Amino acid sequence: MIKIGRIHVCLELREIFLDNEPLRLGTRAFDILEMLIRAKGGLVRKEDILRCVWPNTIVEENNLQVHISSLRKMLGDDKDLIRTTPGRGYRLVLPRDATQAATGPAQPAVTSGMTAGTTAGVAVCLADMMRAQPIGLPLFHGPLIGRETAVEEVLAALQRSPLVTLVGAGGIGKTQLGIEVARLQSLNSAAAVCFVALGSNDGPAHVVRAVANALRIEMFGTEPSLGDVTAAVAGRELLLVLDNCEHVINEAATLCEHLVRANKGVRILATSREPVRTACEQLYWVPPLEMPVEGDGFEAIAQRGAVQMFIARARAFDPHFTYDSDSIAQIATVCRRLDGVPLALELAAARAATLGISELVSELEDRFRVLTGGLRSAPLRQQTLKATLDWSYRFLSREERMVLRRVSVCDGHFPLEVACRIVGSDDLSEGEVTEAIAGLASKSLLMFDSQGPRKLYYLLESTRVYAMQDLDDPDERANVGARHEEYGVPWTFSGDVNGATHFTQ
Ligand SMILES: Nc1ncnc2c1ncn2[C@@H]1O[C@H](COP(=O)(O)OP(=O)(O)OP(=O)(O)O)[C@@H](O)[C@H]1O
Ligand SMILES: [Mg+2]
Repeated sequence: MIKIGRIHVCLELREIFLDNEPLRLGTRAFDILEMLIRAKGGLVRKEDILRCVWPNTIVEENNLQVHISSLRKMLGDDKDLIRTTPGRGYRLVLPRDATQAATGPAQPAVTSGMTAGTTAGVAVCLADMMRAQPIGLPLFHGPLIGRETAVEEVLAALQRSPLVTLVGAGGIGKTQLGIEVARLQSLNSAAAVCFVALGSNDGPAHVVRAVANALRIEMFGTEPSLGDVTAAVAGRELLLVLDNCEHVINEAATLCEHLVRANKGVRILATSREPVRTACEQLYWVPPLEMPVEGDGFEAIAQRGAVQMFIARARAFDPHFTYDSDSIAQIATVCRRLDGVPLALELAAARAATLGISELVSELEDRFRVLTGGLRSAPLRQQTLKATLDWSYRFLSREERMVLRRVSVCDGHFPLEVACRIVGSDDLSEGEVTEAIAGLASKSLLMFDSQGPRKLYYLLESTRVYAMQDLDDPDERANVGARHEEYGVPWTFSGDVNGATHFTQ
């Protein structure tokens, strides 16, 4: 909607409202108004209006004056916003606070980093039209495998909380889950749905602009501010999906907090490798796909989500891809070694389809060399297994990198105190280790299981292999290895990531 004084204009629907009541305006008067609006305050020449509004017809200039008069009449007290430049044409001049005046006081700023107040210009928002069609939601995506429970849980979380964040390791399937939840919401709820992909390399400033673009909010002459976005969605029912927030996390947090505080009808579903960390955020840690466990027979293995996904992807490459009792056991091994992470399974399935499953199993020793053939349409961070870890790694602090490479010697679950003993050193205090462990866990590089009040940490195998490659200093490797021998070995883990955790000391 464009707000001019007390009236609201929707150019796309060609409707005008005064205090929420529709106004009647003739077609030609509306065309003239539209030309004035689109000129963004610039002069619109009389001859251009006459040519566009009365094409192929020669009309007297007083026809134009009649329509300008009816527009001024409609604007009432704001009639002077249409200015005449004698002998030349007309301009629609909007006061600097036009948007603010029409939408009430600006919302308070929440955190620093972005301007929160509304700015000069005119906001155009097609949110009303969005009800018919979700905006930006990828229409085609393959079937979502093994996420029935997750979908239900996320939908339920959205009922309770205005901001739900799908958190988890790279390639674990946050975006796909988010898309499915948004798709179901668009079918089953009256709220408009808008999907905004933030996963490009554009900087933080791009967050508000990306949301404004997706919501089709246009500020004539100025960059849309956070306040403009807030004002444009005021009073609307909207589910906003913010996909891949991790690299613009501070700006995403500011936006989320501001939007949900100011608008009751707004729900946000964020996906990120780390929590957005704002008030009223509900985290949903996306788990790996279900993996085969010890003792599973042929049927049971074939039913596990990770196996189904692997087979589905292998068949997408080779429709004749089949399995028997031997190869299904090998597929189970691949799924476990790739931690049930869909992206890794997808890359592995492509390899298996061309080389065979046995070859793939032996190649997994060198997983970063072989798991490289991502979809050409996928973002760069998902083209190879290494790229997806590189994307997470670049957000780590120096201390987090040190701790990650040192804990890579731990093949299994370990509590915090064991980590402190193994990785602590003269250049890394116990406090720094604790901070780094917490940071790594929140950035989905360290996984954890809860054992009552205590946490047990572990690394996905791909993360462990990746981090170990960074442990290339012989002295550091020897020191950490020795401490692991001394303190780490008693902590052995048996169990599975999906089920109960058992550990012994
Ligand atoms: N449940 C699933 N069923 C089928 N394919 C899936 C599933 N989950 C993810 N995938 C596939 O795995 C790949 C990675 O998924 P997705 O992009 O959702 O991961 P992500 O967690 O969002 O990763 P990133 O952290 O890089 O954003 C995609 O190609 C997607 O098609
Ligand atoms: Mg994603």
